Amino acid sequence: MTRAYDSIAEGYAAMNETSLLNEYYNRPALAEMAGDVTGLRVLDAGCGSGPIYADLRAGGAIVTGIDSSAGMVEQAALRLGHDADLVVADIGETLPFDDSIFDLVVASQALHYLREWEPTLVEFRRILKPGGRLIVSEEHPSATFLGDRLSGGSSEYFGVRRRTEQWNLGGKSAELVFWDRPLHAMTDAFASAGFRITTISEPAPSAAAYERFPEEFADRPSGRFLAFLLFELESSKG
Ligand SMILES: C[S@@+](CC[C@H](N)C(=O)[O-])C[C@H]1O[C@@H](n2cnc3c(N)ncnc32)[C@H](O)[C@@H]1O
Repeated sequence: MTRAYDSIAEGYAAMNETSLLNEYYNRPALAEMAGDVTGLRVLDAGCGSGPIYADLRAGGAIVTGIDSSAGMVEQAALRLGHDADLVVADIGETLPFDDSIFDLVVASQALHYLREWEPTLVEFRRILKPGGRLIVSEEHPSATFLGDRLSGGSSEYFGVRRRTEQWNLGGKSAELVFWDRPLHAMTDAFASAGFRITTISEPAPSAAAYERFPEEFADRPSGRFLAFLLFELESSKG
């Protein structure tokens, strides 16, 4: 996965900055869920080119970003400045942080590259202060399942399923491997790692999305679409 993102880093960074799904949907939803982050110590896990890091920093948080792709971290440094706190690290491994130092961990569109979630969630809990928050943005399990069925893939919802996609961005191509999982596998992993769900959000796009992408809403009278699912979780104190 690291090498896959390295090869499309520049193109992915440009796409992420202006896309409906990122700029007009995921990021505003994350910002709303995070609320006032002034003075909070925050880890952006799987930070990519740093758009969420930038939002959190603008909100007054003290942010660290990690990503397993050196190419993506380079893009983040270009966006955020070379004094930004960025580390090349794999969220599937032991994290290079002491216990109980973060108030908030944000993992946006990153966990689905991991076959197993629980070891990573246990690490997130270790580095969070007791009672600290984890915000997870993931592909909605109904959306991945329906997408898979429509493209002639698996008709099985109830397991962890490997999916590959070819992404062509910025004149480069990469095969990405995703691990799709049903809703109960997500919530079971949260619970067994010691997290309590406080909010589940199926967000609406920001108001600006309707003006910028009118064609996307022509046959969606609700003004909404099924794409991401956001969780706000609290680390149990024990
Ligand atoms: C879809 S991008 C999301 C970027 C950003 N979080 C956002 O929501 O805009 C996924 C990012 O996760 C990173 N990633 C994938 N697997 C990872 C892993 N095991 N450890 C750390 N980062 C990982 C990729 O390199 C990529 O930058």
